[in-house]
Parts: sequence; C-alpha cells; structure tokens
Amino acid sequence: MSASSQGFALITGASSGIGATYARRLAARGYNLILVARDQARLETLAQSLQQQHAIEVRILRADLTSASDLRRVEQELQSNAAITLLANNAGMSVDGEFLDADIDRIQTMLALNILAPTRLAHAAANAFRARRGGVIINIASVLSLMHEMFNGAYNGSKSFVLTLTRAMQRELANSGVQVQAVLPGATRTEIFDRSGKSIDELPQEMIMEVDDMVDAALAGLEAGEAVTIPALEEIALWQEYDRARGAMLPYLSLSQPASRYRQ
Ligand SMILES: NC(=O)c1ccc[n+]([C@@H]2O[C@H](COP(=O)([O-])OP(=O)(O)OC[C@H]3O[C@@H](n4cnc5c(N)ncnc54)[C@H](OP(=O)(O)O)[C@@H]3O)[C@@H](O)[C@H]2O)c1
Repeated sequence: MSASSQGFALITGASSGIGATYARRLAARGYNLILVARDQARLETLAQSLQQQHAIEVRILRADLTSASDLRRVEQELQSNAAITLLANNAGMSVDGEFLDADIDRIQTMLALNILAPTRLAHAAANAFRARRGGVIINIASVLSLMHEMFNGAYNGSKSFVLTLTRAMQRELANSGVQVQAVLPGATRTEIFDRSGKSIDELPQEMIMEVDDMVDAALAGLEAGEAVTIPALEEIALWQEYDRARGAMLPYLSLSQPASRYRQ
C-alpha cells in the first residue's frame, strides 16, 4: 500500500494508446491506479512497470465494457471505493469505412463502448464525487465530434454525444468541487486505426500527433481548468467563436411560431 495523497485514478482503456499514456503520466504525478481493459496480460505488464518506477499501488480491473455485467462491476467500484478521485473515461473504438458499408453489429458494439459505457461510468463517478465534494472526470471525445463531413457519422456522433454530455455535466456540477473535462484529440498515433482495419499512414503526417504530446497537452488543459481541451488547436479564438455562435442561437431555437420562411 502506498502513501499517495492523490487517491486512485480509474482509467478505462488503459492497456494501450491514450489510456496507457494517462496511466504513465498520472503515476508520475503520484496517483494510485485502477487499470480497466480486456487484455489482462498487457495491464499486468503496465502495472508492474509503473509500480516499480513510482511508489504507487496499481490494481487491475479486467472488464469488457460492452458487457453489461462487466460494466456494472466497474460502476460498483466507482460507487463503493471512496479512494477514487479521478475517472478517465477513455476506452473507445472506431469502425472504418462509410456508414452504409459498415457492419451494423460492429457499429452497435462501438456505440455500446463509446456511449453507453462512459455514460454509466460518468454517472456513477459524478454522484460519488459530488457526495465527497471533489473529484475529476476526464471524458475522451474527439475532434470528429465537431466534424459532420468526414468519416462515418456513427463514430463522430458517439463523440458528439460525449462532448454534449460533458458540457451538461459541467453545468450540473458547477460549484460542486467536481471538475469535468472533455478532451478532443485529433488523429493520434495509437492502435485504434489498426484495430479498425485502417492504417494511420493513410493520413497526412502533419495531421498526426504523438500520443505523449496529446496526453501532456490534455493534462495541461485539465490543470488550467479548461472545460474543453482541443490539443491541436492553436487559435483558441476559433473554438470560442464557434461556441459563442452556438450560444447566440439558443434563445431562437424553440419558439411558438415557425420561422417566417416556412409560413405561406
Ligand atoms: N487515436 C486517435 O486518433 C483518437 C482521436 C480521437 C479520440 N480518440 C479516442 O481515444 C480513446 C482511446 O483510444 P486510443 O486511440 O488510445 O486507441 P487504442 O490504442 O486502440 O486503445 C483503446 C483502448 O480501449 C480498450 N478497449 C477496447 N475495447 C474495449 C472493450 N470492449 N472493453 C474495455 N476496453 C476496451 C482497449 O483495451 P483492450 O483491447 O485491452 O480491451 C485499449 O486499452 C478512444 O475513446 C478513442 O475514440 C482517439
């Protein structure tokens, strides 16, 4: 048992890519870890190396987050373990190709992993953290949440869901002591491309960020208190202007009368 004062960070999808990088970075910051994914052997290798490098405790919670019973076990951990102070809602997958050509059963699995799992875990963590008046929830979305024109809409839409849920949670958790961040990575060099049957090398090199850089930027955004972090975006004013324009529409979106252009 370690003397960590940071508590435990529970990271989903910790066996590779962005999740494994969060595990390394949070271990270096003194967090104890609970690593969640399906691949027990990879989780054990990572756990051993982090335990050796840092004076922390690392536990493994093997779970297939598309299985209702496994998901429930992770929720119960968040509900019952008062030492957990951070949830990184990261596990996710993509399905390559156009929506119409894709295997609809794979799309359904993706929606279970990218939408249902983070929703239930965020709900469990948010309630536990609010009751303790503190905690951090990191929801990994994607820049594709803002892109309706590219890729298959089902993946994009799953990430738009994560962004919307995060922003609604931020409103509900204002002044609660609980911080919620949405991270919108662009293309990041991980296994997600290979796993979906696509090569990352099909993308222009200037579009691809190394995973260490992505996670370091996301953590810098978290530590700066950002609600939404877009690691690649230099001109933050572009995001602010987009969000301002969205906000400016709000008073006019639900009214008793149709717009004049629809009236005879
Ligand atoms: N890489 C990018 O370009 C990019 C860009 C924007 C957003 N993202 C998002 O970033 C997150 C992490 O992806 P990544 O790029 O790091 O990909 P990755 O290297 O493929 O990692 C995905 C992680 O999710 C886990 N996972 C997959 N299916 C699972 C299941 N059914 N149950 C539990 N865990 C499961 C995997 O572990 P096991 O196989 O061991 O279960 C792995 O640890 C995802 O939400 C992804 O959508 C990635």
